[in-house]
Amino acid sequence: MKSIHIQSESDYQNAVAKWKKSPDDFWADIANAYTWLKPWNKVVEADFPKADFKWFLGGKLNITLNALDRHVEAHPDKTAILWEPNNPKDPHLEISYKDLLKRVSKMAHAMKAQGIEKGDRVCLYMPMIPELAVAVLACARIGAVHSVVFAGFSAQSLADRIQDSHCKLVITSDELKRGGKIVGIKNIVDQALESCPSVTSVLVAQSTGASIPMQNGRDHWLEEVQKNQADFIEAEEMDSEDPLFILYTSGSTGKPKGVVHTCGGYMVYAGYSFLNVFQVGKEDVYWCTADIGWITGHTYIVYGPLLAGATTTMFEGVPTWPDAGRFWAICEKHKINQFYTAPTAIRALMAKGDEFVDAYPLKDLKVIGSVGEPINEEAWVWYHEKVGKKNCPVVDTWWQTETGGIMISALGDVGPQKPTFAGRPLPGVDPILVDNEGNLIEENNQEGLLCIRSPWPSMIRTTYGDHQRCINTYFSAYKGYYFTGDGAKRDADGHYRIIGRVDDVINVSGHRFGTAEIENAIDEHPEVVESAVVGFPHDIKGQGIYAYVILSKKPENQERLREEIQSELVKAIGPIAKPDAIQFVSGLPKTRSGKIMRRILRKVASGESDQLGDTSTLLDPEVVEEIISGSKHFVS
Ligand code: WT7
Repeated sequence: MKSIHIQSESDYQNAVAKWKKSPDDFWADIANAYTWLKPWNKVVEADFPKADFKWFLGGKLNITLNALDRHVEAHPDKTAILWEPNNPKDPHLEISYKDLLKRVSKMAHAMKAQGIEKGDRVCLYMPMIPELAVAVLACARIGAVHSVVFAGFSAQSLADRIQDSHCKLVITSDELKRGGKIVGIKNIVDQALESCPSVTSVLVAQSTGASIPMQNGRDHWLEEVQKNQADFIEAEEMDSEDPLFILYTSGSTGKPKGVVHTCGGYMVYAGYSFLNVFQVGKEDVYWCTADIGWITGHTYIVYGPLLAGATTTMFEGVPTWPDAGRFWAICEKHKINQFYTAPTAIRALMAKGDEFVDAYPLKDLKVIGSVGEPINEEAWVWYHEKVGKKNCPVVDTWWQTETGGIMISALGDVGPQKPTFAGRPLPGVDPILVDNEGNLIEENNQEGLLCIRSPWPSMIRTTYGDHQRCINTYFSAYKGYYFTGDGAKRDADGHYRIIGRVDDVINVSGHRFGTAEIENAIDEHPEVVESAVVGFPHDIKGQGIYAYVILSKKPENQERLREEIQSELVKAIGPIAKPDAIQFVSGLPKTRSGKIMRRILRKVASGESDQLGDTSTLLDPEVVEEIISGSKHFVS
């Protein structure tokens, strides 16, 4: 790909200068590195207050022509996807670009055989098996909009997401392997579909080969439907602004919303950011440990690497099984050159002891990356010393589901290696800090709210089915800017340090939850009157979930009630939403106007009840005393 490739400080400076001089020329140059079926006639139209953004207007393309066909011509036998199974004793798979296009074509035909057409929504609820990546690309091939739902979400969450975007087809598998455990995910799909009338068919991939119930007329084995399909399918011609996918994510209010990304801009930015952040060479093997159910997996397991013609690794299992050396064993086995993971995984593995990582020389590693939450200095240093053996730049990449791609990060070894600082924006990205009133903070070394001032190609286009919500969430707080929801600080050299969410979003092990969504689930319990949920610092997870709960009557068995509340959450959201602490209280600290003072709850949960600040607006100060004394046995 002849894109803008930044390999030195002067390349970086030149790229920024070029963008400042003419953003349109800058992005056009990057877009020109791709194959278009019809060239665009205008680079961008942007209206921030209306959240109306169009990129590469009039352009026609199919992202898979750039992610597959182009490479099938240039290097058909190069490995596109290297798949490492859950069990290290099972064989791994190397799927070449040529084979991948065949698999994608067959699956695309199979989807068409179920009546799927351009614009239809398809839900993917699958393990990290090759069929998941193939299904993503097969949707893109025929212009169907994929909505991948992380296979750890509950039946209810899955149903909510399917209903919100009226999916017609669900692709899943019989079961899912996760370390030593097996989860019957087809069973979860069956439960979800009891309330999803839009779904007319289900394709089931075989993962474990278990015999499972299949509903006549609705459910089909993927393999059988694919078997006799042709191994090539023409790519559908898509407009730049046709939707490519929907991905649900949590915000501070209401149910998770479907973030919509479109074909042209997303493609341009995914390839550009991948190439420059990870500096992946022709022969390199790249591995991102995320699940494709999150945006990281979309952009940096599937689309980014394949657009660049790279070899991307996909891992089915978990970092701690069979032991805490699994990541490093895989790095060694496949001679991984670029490795990308989350701080929560780094901290969890760090806690298991150095012997697991010390056992592997990891000589092939060149760049190691971090994403999802702030990385604390101790974890950064351990990652750099133990994994990178002090030889690899750490790219601390800041971005969001809504930004589509990495926004602030070092580019390989270009940019600062300063622990806890994500660094500078990628050329073309225009971050700013504002104060609470929306005034621009121009001085350095000050904390502010992180906003983005100029449009970028892979920015969120809408929230599915509710454009006003997109405007309200991201484009209303600070006029003319995109508001990220994060607080940040900029140092004298222009390096950004991300502090964390300033809204009611909790980031647990890199997973985003809205406090309201957790509270709603807790309130479902018949004995719960009201609840308030906050995040607190957690050694491994980054943030933990702390729930304060008011009950209708004194519980006979507190432990049992806690378990019941936990199961409400597992049912409503999934096991990843289990609180770390549930404290029963008789009241919540509220202002006279009835607003919960979460600031106080956060301080108490963090063990900082001696720093409550101004409590003069509290309706009932005694409640706070009770909460503080009851919290003692929860907080370490
Ligand atoms: C939120 C976005 C997009 C990657 C996966 C998470 C936090 C993300 C960093 C980082 C500090 C980070 C932010 C952001 N975040 N990367 N390098 N340093 N914080 O995607 O679920 O959309 O969450 O994750 O708070 O707003 P997401």
